[in-house]
Amino acid sequence: HKITVLHGPNLNLLGTRQPEIYGHETLDDVNNTMREIAVLAGWELHCQQSNHEGELIDAIHAARLDGTHAIIINPAAYTHTSVAILDALNAFDGKVIEVHISNVHKREAFRHHSYVSLRADGVIAGLGTHGYVAALEAVINAADK
Ligand code: DQA
Repeated sequence: HKITVLHGPNLNLLGTRQPEIYGHETLDDVNNTMREIAVLAGWELHCQQSNHEGELIDAIHAARLDGTHAIIINPAAYTHTSVAILDALNAFDGKVIEVHISNVHKREAFRHHSYVSLRADGVIAGLGTHGYVAALEAVINAADK
């Protein structure tokens, strides 16, 4: 019963990075909130942040082999550029939920396209950091059925 949460580049700065867009919560706050919910529901949660595309790919490969049920991923700027992350997710058999803190569709045109959405089972954007909690609850509820 494992869920992997992957945060892409610059999300280590959450809470101080453009708070008018991304809010004041830190990445630790987000991960801790998610972990509490997961543990109460009997799930193991692995959270990882990387500023490096290859490290995110390695983490997806690891999830592929360690029995991970679902990946919740905010690929950040790699959303809009990375065929390699899409390919890695295509090699993963579990559920994939894509999360964006901001509403990317309300922003610059280059943020409107997502490579990852070609693979994602669900996409959440614009709910702030609550989007991660919504994604987690969706995964847990769907698995309980
Ligand atoms: C983001 C949106 C991306 O366009 C941006 O590059 C990010 C964060 C979001 O969570 O809203 O770094 O994925």
